[in-house]
Order: sequence, then C-alpha cells, then structure tokens
Amino acid sequence: MAPLLHRQATAWLFLLSALAGAAAVADPLGCSTLPAGTESPPPPDFTGPLQHVTIGSHRIAYRRVLALVQESGAASAACAGAGTPSPPLVLLLGYGCTMSQWGTRLLRRLAQQRELILVDHPAQGLSEDLEGGASPMTMPVLSELTLGFLKALGLHKPHLAGFSLGGCIALKLAAEHPEAVGKVVTFGANSMDGRAVLGSPEELGALFTPTNDMPQYAPFFFNTSAEAGRLAACRWIADAAAMPEDKPKPEANQRYAAGIIASVDPQNTAIWDALPRITAPVLLMGGLEDVVVPARAQPELAARIPGTRQAPAVVVWRYLRLTAGARAPPSCCLVAAPSAWLALFPAAGHAFFSQLVEPVAATMDVFLQHAGPAAGPGEAGLALEKAAAQVCDGSAAAAATT
Ligand SMILES: *[C@@H]1O[C@H](CO)[C@@H](O)[C@H](O)[C@H]1NC(C)=O
Repeated sequence: MAPLLHRQATAWLFLLSALAGAAAVADPLGCSTLPAGTESPPPPDFTGPLQHVTIGSHRIAYRRVLALVQESGAASAACAGAGTPSPPLVLLLGYGCTMSQWGTRLLRRLAQQRELILVDHPAQGLSEDLEGGASPMTMPVLSELTLGFLKALGLHKPHLAGFSLGGCIALKLAAEHPEAVGKVVTFGANSMDGRAVLGSPEELGALFTPTNDMPQYAPFFFNTSAEAGRLAACRWIADAAAMPEDKPKPEANQRYAAGIIASVDPQNTAIWDALPRITAPVLLMGGLEDVVVPARAQPELAARIPGTRQAPAVVVWRYLRLTAGARAPPSCCLVAAPSAWLALFPAAGHAFFSQLVEPVAATMDVFLQHAGPAAGPGEAGLALEKAAAQVCDGSAAAAATT
C-alpha cells in the first residue's frame, strides 16, 4: 500500500508537468447561468483589517474576525454554553488556498459564536517570504511556522480548524504541542505522510498543477457532476471574489506540492505515529464524495486518536459503516467513534464545508461547546445529545444542499 502511494506521488510530478500547459476554459462550470435568486455572498466588512506578523523570514498575513453579536432567538440547544467566552478559532487552509476561499458565507456563520483568526500559509496568498525562499514547504516547517504564529499572536490554547493539509498541521500540533492547542476540527484531513489516504494520481494530477485557478480546482473540491456540487462550486468561486486581493501564487503552490510529495514517502510515518499522543478533543469531518482524501481516511484517523474518555458516548446518532459500496445516508451524521468524533456528510466532496455551511457549522458549535473531559452522561452529555439530534436532522442538511 505504502509503496503504491509513493508511486502515485511520483506520478503526480509527471502529470503536473504534462498538465501545466493546458489552456484554461473561461467558464467550465457554467457559473454565468446560476439559477435566478441565488443570493450573493455577505460583504466581507466583518472580516477585520489585513494584518501581518513576522515569523523568522516569513511575513504572515492574517485577519482577526471578531465574534458577531448573537441575534436574538438564534440561540439553540447548541448554544447552551453561550455567554462563556470561547477561545478563538484559528482556520488553517489547505493546499493552493487563501483566506478568501473560506468564503464570507461560512465565515459569517462561524463568527456568530466565536472570534475567528484567518491566516494565509507562509509564502502563500498575501503572506510573503522575506528571503525569496524556494525550498519545499514540508510538514515540519509548516507546523513550526504555524506554532510560531499562534505564539506571536499571544493566543492561549486556541481551537484549530484545518482543511486538508491545514487539518493535518492541526493534528500534528495537537500531538506535539498539547499545551498550545485547544480543540481540533479537521475538514477532509489525512496524515499527509506514508500512511496518508489519497485519491489516485489520475484524479489528483491536475490538482497539483501550480497554475490552477478556482474553476480548475473546483472538480477536486466539489462533485461538479452533481447539480448541488456544481452550484456549490459556483458559489465558492463567487464568494471568494468578495475578497479579490488574496490569490494563491503559482510559485507557492509548487513549493507546497513538493512538500506534500516529499511527505507521502512510504518510509515517513511521522505524523501517523504521533496521532496516538493527541489528548485534545478532535472532530474529524469529511465529505463522502471526496476524491482528494477519500472518506475512509476519517475513521482510520479516528482509530489512531485516543481519548474515549472525552468522546461523548451518548451521541451515537447514527453509525455509518464505511465499507466498500456503502450507501450514503440521507442526512449528515455525527457519531461518537471509538475515539475522536466523526462527522461525515453525504453528497459532498473535499470542500463539503463550503457546500453544507449550516450543518457543518452547527456540528462545530456542538463540538466546540461541549466536547471535552466534562462531557459525559451527565447534564452536558444530555445537552449534547439534544443538539446532535438537531444537527443531524435531515431537513437541515437538505435545506443546505438546495
Ligand atoms: C458525483 O455525483 C454523481 C451524480 O450524482 C454520481 O454518479 C457520482 O458517483 C458522484 N461522484 C462521487 C465521487 O461520489
């Protein structure tokens, strides 16, 4: 299995060079003809000013999004802990992404209950490399710089939420620097080493093309063969256009691709081996139609993360068996895995959080407020059970896909 992965990684390099010259089609997703009434994204006026902090030879770009005032009546069972100050939530991006690609729709929803910190990865987007670096962005480099960023901002045990590569950085930090991390949420993460679950090189080659733009990435992030996925991809592109100055850089993409390819060497199991050291509560989320990091990665990661004590056993809403050919259930699922929490979303791909903003954010609300040593079969556990039932209500997921 592992040598196969490395052959896949090597095959990316070939595909990468073969596809780099492919001409872009202006509107391959047909986004110019969105259904009438498709609402425009919220303006980015709440995302705070662009700021910079210097970590070593890196000038890192970030924004602090202050918690928005809770609208009356918005409190639900998921908000039972409302009123107690929550640590900020730092959002860590995936390969080829910048802050603007979270989209103001998702950010506005997540900021309802907590401060958010957005950051462009080193040398990517609006972040700069002060010494004009060209070295691969490896996992150790990225996690050290991320740790430096958390410290430079003086954050005390912030929660981390990371997409794909960013999720792996969050898990690595939780394993190696437990004193620096609160709770961890991952979107479509894997161990980004020799044990990483990844799609096939035929599918992933075009993703690692450094000159990619958003319409070209879209089929990796959404199932654009399905109408709900195509519309979500169009909304994702339109949402990012609300923050137009923050674009991925091809030269940075190249360095990140090189770092990923070096990391998935079968001899390297560093992150996989570190996962059992995690003590933080972890919520692993994924899309069942993810072609970049197939959904089976999530229960595999969960089984490596200890802390049954922290997993609220009362929240067994629906257990999904991820065997080959398993049918997707009609709604989102929140399950108490043997260890970490696991939430898998049907009919959505790698960027399921952008397609299913409400169920994803509601699941995060429940986890961030209730997960932890205190959640057990007592009062907190019951609040959690009620909230999870709401989160997993099929109507919420259905409403979000239309
Ligand atoms: C994408 O959606 C189509 C249409 O619903 C479906 O046939 C296909 O299996 C989906 N792709 C994945 C990877 O699940």
